[in-house]
Amino acid sequence: MDYSQKKIKELVAEHYVFASVLYYLGIEYYEFEEDSLEKVCKHKGLDCKKVIAELEQIQENQEIDNLKLLGLPIDLIVEYLKHAHYLFIKKDLPFLVKMINRLQSATQTYFGVQKDLQEIFPLFVEDFVHHIYEEEDTLFDYILSLKKINDERLNPSGFFYKHQKFNIQKFAMDHEVHDDEMKGIRYIMEQFPPESEGELNFNVLYAALERFERKLMIHAQIENEVLFPKALMLEKQVRRNFDDLIKLN
Ligand SMILES: [Fe+2]
Ligand SMILES: [Fe+2]
Repeated sequence: MDYSQKKIKELVAEHYVFASVLYYLGIEYYEFEEDSLEKVCKHKGLDCKKVIAELEQIQENQEIDNLKLLGLPIDLIVEYLKHAHYLFIKKDLPFLVKMINRLQSATQTYFGVQKDLQEIFPLFVEDFVHHIYEEEDTLFDYILSLKKINDERLNPSGFFYKHQKFNIQKFAMDHEVHDDEMKGIRYIMEQFPPESEGELNFNVLYAALERFERKLMIHAQIENEVLFPKALMLEKQVRRNFDDLIKLN
């Protein structure tokens, strides 16, 4: 199918996810709804073939195989998760915020949804960003230090003294109980009325939220099923080595 001659409006209506891809590439679809993709690419100085390749790529399933991750060293898994955090904050959230802020519905039902979303979403973003920073500043930092100790690049004595109260088991348990972010997103999604033809922006937003929720779920799954088990093993190992060292002295 030749995407280049299609109107932006048609492309997005057929695949809601294209709205976010175009957005990352610098095309705000709602500004060019009636233009063909080729025309907009020319206007924006983008290579149309590359844009189409990006659109096609997003349709393929690119889910990461957790089993593959399980085989990686723990510091790489932490880097992978940090990169995912970065993408959530730099790519997904700005698009969602933009879409929510520019909602404008003439109909009563949608107007109510719009008002709710504009109130609730900033609260969600605040909690979400807090969760990410807490993870990076405490858990990830702790795990990376354990790895360094295990590789003999860091002295263990000061480390255990500094982190007497922290342990991975507790963090892991809290993490599993609190799937707050997902609850927040689901709550937001429940506010939507059923899909409506005249409300392209709402439909695009709903699809983007659905996709985001799925990403968050996979992310939490990697943390719960890959990161925590590996980190617990590493913590045990490092502690055991440290205790042996103390006994020797
Ligand atoms: Fe995370
Ligand atoms: Fe998390």
